[in-house]
Amino acid sequence: MRLSLIYARSLNRCIGKDGQIPWHLPDEFGHFKKTTLGKPIIMGRKTYEDHKSALPGRRNIVISRQPNYEVVDGIELADSLESAIAMAYETSDEIFVIGGVHFFVESMPLADCIYETVVQADIDGEAKLPEFDLDGWETTLLGEHGVDERHAYAYKMYRHQRQRV
Ligand SMILES: NC(=O)c1ccc[n+]([C@@H]2O[C@H](COP(=O)([O-])OP(=O)(O)OC[C@H]3O[C@@H](n4cnc5c(N)ncnc54)[C@H](OP(=O)(O)O)[C@@H]3O)[C@@H](O)[C@H]2O)c1
Repeated sequence: MRLSLIYARSLNRCIGKDGQIPWHLPDEFGHFKKTTLGKPIIMGRKTYEDHKSALPGRRNIVISRQPNYEVVDGIELADSLESAIAMAYETSDEIFVIGGVHFFVESMPLADCIYETVVQADIDGEAKLPEFDLDGWETTLLGEHGVDERHAYAYKMYRHQRQRV
């Protein structure tokens, strides 16, 4: 069983502004897609509302406290992180938590792996991650991307792997 987190954050740890991702980085989204394809993805209701569709090729599980919350076809609803994880592990031994802030923090103690993209800028936004203590984790730089006509910000992609003793 393997639980991974995946997110992109700015240097000042912002991940979202006004309910959306505050940058448009198509190749970074390609990295997200390639990494999560075929695996269940778990997200909070506001992260889902950013795109309001099921991301294809993956089980999409949305967490809300609203029992009658209406979702589009292809979305499964859970009422807690715990039940979302139990649902996801029914069909896969590797699952991803894809946001937002509360669920990254709640699932961090359970995580084996974190796929972290660091956008090389300070960016304003109300959705901000706290510092994670990555002491005891092994960090690998997976790649870097510069500014170009499709990418207004440079970014670096890391994988942090928890070292089990
Ligand atoms: N840069 C990135 O990698 C990245 C990734 C993901 C999201 N984002 C951004 O982050 C923002 C959204 O994240 P967010 O942190 O504001 O919201 P979120 O975690 O996506 O969703 C929050 C909602 O989850 C439900 N929830 C929270 N705690 C719960 C609990 N203990 N039990 C059951 N349900 C619970 C509630 O839904 P109800 O109100 O329906 O009960 C709550 O309103 C957006 O701007 C999005 O674009 C960025």
